[in-house]
Amino acid sequence: MRHERIFTPGPVELPDGIREVLGRQILHHRTEEFRRAFLELRELFKRLVEDPSDNFAFFASSGTGAMEAVILNFFMEGDKVLVINGGKFGERWLKLSHHWGLRPIEYRVEWGMSADPQRVRELLRENPDCKGVLFQISETSTGAYHPSEDIGSVCTEFDTLCVADAITALGVYHIKPSWGLDVVVGGSQKGFLLPPGLSVLWFSERAEKRLTDRAFYFSIRRELSKQKEGQTAWTPAIGLLLAMKESLQMLLEEGMERVEKRHRAISEGTLRAVEAMGLSRFAQKPSISVSAINSERSEEIRKELLKLGVRVAGGQEELKGRIFRISHMGMDPKDGLMVVGVLEVVLKRLGFGQILGEGVKAYTQTLMERGLW
Ligand SMILES: Cc1ncc(COP(=O)(O)O)c(C=O)c1O
Repeated sequence: MRHERIFTPGPVELPDGIREVLGRQILHHRTEEFRRAFLELRELFKRLVEDPSDNFAFFASSGTGAMEAVILNFFMEGDKVLVINGGKFGERWLKLSHHWGLRPIEYRVEWGMSADPQRVRELLRENPDCKGVLFQISETSTGAYHPSEDIGSVCTEFDTLCVADAITALGVYHIKPSWGLDVVVGGSQKGFLLPPGLSVLWFSERAEKRLTDRAFYFSIRRELSKQKEGQTAWTPAIGLLLAMKESLQMLLEEGMERVEKRHRAISEGTLRAVEAMGLSRFAQKPSISVSAINSERSEEIRKELLKLGVRVAGGQEELKGRIFRISHMGMDPKDGLMVVGVLEVVLKRLGFGQILGEGVKAYTQTLMERGLW
């Protein structure tokens, strides 16, 4: 029997329904059965994002692949873009832009802070030739949320493409067309609660007009002409696509409003709990997908949590050893309570000196106040 529970910001634990689908015999993709299943999956995705258009494509890649696909399909060499860089994944937009010969302007946001839409407006005013704004909805490395709807409306003012890495936001936040995002990138191993290896790229009509033919494997045009008919240009991640159907059904059954409400309550409950235990949050405006918690003893805490069967993530790069991160993606409220409870034990054993039970009390109260319990 396996005792370890995983609460890292990807991969996340797989629900039973998804594991059941993944355990089935492979289905050949050039068949009517696959075609039907894939078209059903596409209808479910449209319902999830509340967009009846066919403007989205799945790729057999991790999230970074779809980020690269964004650069290749919507921008040309020499294009100026504004990159909001507030962490490791903001940095990735910057690296990808440089790699493919774009001319990125960097809006550097201190790690743990969130972008200021007014600053985005100023930068776009100073750079009217900017072809796009690239950012993360949820900056997983710092646990910060960038105010995406506000950034979306600033982009609309300037007719520049609003490109959102929603890799730890899809399946968590109720993202819909009214947010004003033009290109949205997702990855399977996060809010969709699947193994890694499948990515999705969803885009607006405005973005469609900018489609280029620079990519080969990642060509959206080539994929879309096939995917609309229930086929794919290349061999798809068959098992993951079939399991994605299950994932979307689960999300739709709960309803995205309630899914977001659940994540919001668990995130708030966890942060209130850690504060009641004498620790502090790292991100100023936390993402509801992941909580980053300050502690110079974070590696010790992580090791002790693991001994008790709870795996959480540490900090990355400059935050290594300074924070630990708990993912809430797909979390059940009871699991959140368990993590807070085990963390209490660990902190007590490490001599943090908090009053036992304060964390659990804060978490429970929050979930009751938020109507989850
Ligand atoms: C916000 C964000 N963007 C991009 C990535 C990269 O995705 P992948 O590791 O699937 O390539 C991650 C992965 O953690 C992420 O959290």
